[in-house]
Amino acid sequence: MKRDFLSLRDFSRDELSQVLEQAQAFKQGRLKSSLEGKAVVMVFEKASTRTRISFEVGIDRLGGHPIVLTPGTSQMGRGEPLKDTARILSRYAEMIVMRTYAHATIEEIAQWADVPVINALTDLLHPCQVLSDCFTLSEIFGELTDKKIAWIGDGNNMANSWINAAALFGFELSLACPAGYEPDKAILNAAFIDGAKVTVVRDPAEAVAGAIAVNTDVWASMGQEEESGIRAQAFQGYQVDARLMGQAAPEAVFMHCLPAHRGEEVSEEVLESAQSVVWDQAENRLYVQEAIMDFLIGHHHER
Ligand code: CP
Ligand code: NVA
Repeated sequence: MKRDFLSLRDFSRDELSQVLEQAQAFKQGRLKSSLEGKAVVMVFEKASTRTRISFEVGIDRLGGHPIVLTPGTSQMGRGEPLKDTARILSRYAEMIVMRTYAHATIEEIAQWADVPVINALTDLLHPCQVLSDCFTLSEIFGELTDKKIAWIGDGNNMANSWINAAALFGFELSLACPAGYEPDKAILNAAFIDGAKVTVVRDPAEAVAGAIAVNTDVWASMGQEEESGIRAQAFQGYQVDARLMGQAAPEAVFMHCLPAHRGEEVSEEVLESAQSVVWDQAENRLYVQEAIMDFLIGHHHER
């Protein structure tokens, strides 16, 4: 049976750990994988810099053939049903990578596709980014199980994926979100049922206390541009600045999936500080996605 990676929850903890180990081997050049003769179609309903380029370069490095499709330049934009598109793409390509607005869109594609589908971000989740961020943190701090991680700001797709990661990897996660901007209730409940150490609080200082990583993201995600003004009001007091970083653990790092809005969710000072690991986060997308693709359709061997 084909496997998909729509959510971190699609993989077991052991499988995710295996992917992270292989990502390290890819980064160190110890492992080689082959996607030779395999085509990967990437469909982007939304803008992307990092995700698109890291997937495209990763597929190319593994010897596969990347093809990028946008709704506006394909029949998808003219209303061809998702279930038809999924079956057609499966006849040409060995894998589909997709960035969508509604999470239901990628679920429908995955349901009808005969090949693995990878979530390159939806309104609900961003699993490739958060798995890669766990990789970045484990490079710095080793095993994450007993560590505390903080999330400041919007309970968005990144926050939801961090909750899934906390449920799977067992670390403590504290999210500080303004009223009305909490993470997805179903994802939170599933995490609580699994005994995840997740708390949602209002006060950013409470969330960062003792945290080894302080995460944030834009206040208005893609598709929410019209809410920018109202959101800017709601998120007053939620900027990650030097004062807030000073309340985290002394060794804490600052994380952001990027793109960042300096002066809104993060100060220029923090983003450019020595504590900021944002460039490493972006680089690591490449190795972690190589490992995910290898897990789903590749054939790896030691170099
Ligand atoms: N972090 C991230 O997914 O960036 P892009 O939107 O540039 O792909
Ligand atoms: N939450 C952001 C992440 C961008 C990578 C968005 O969805 O726009």
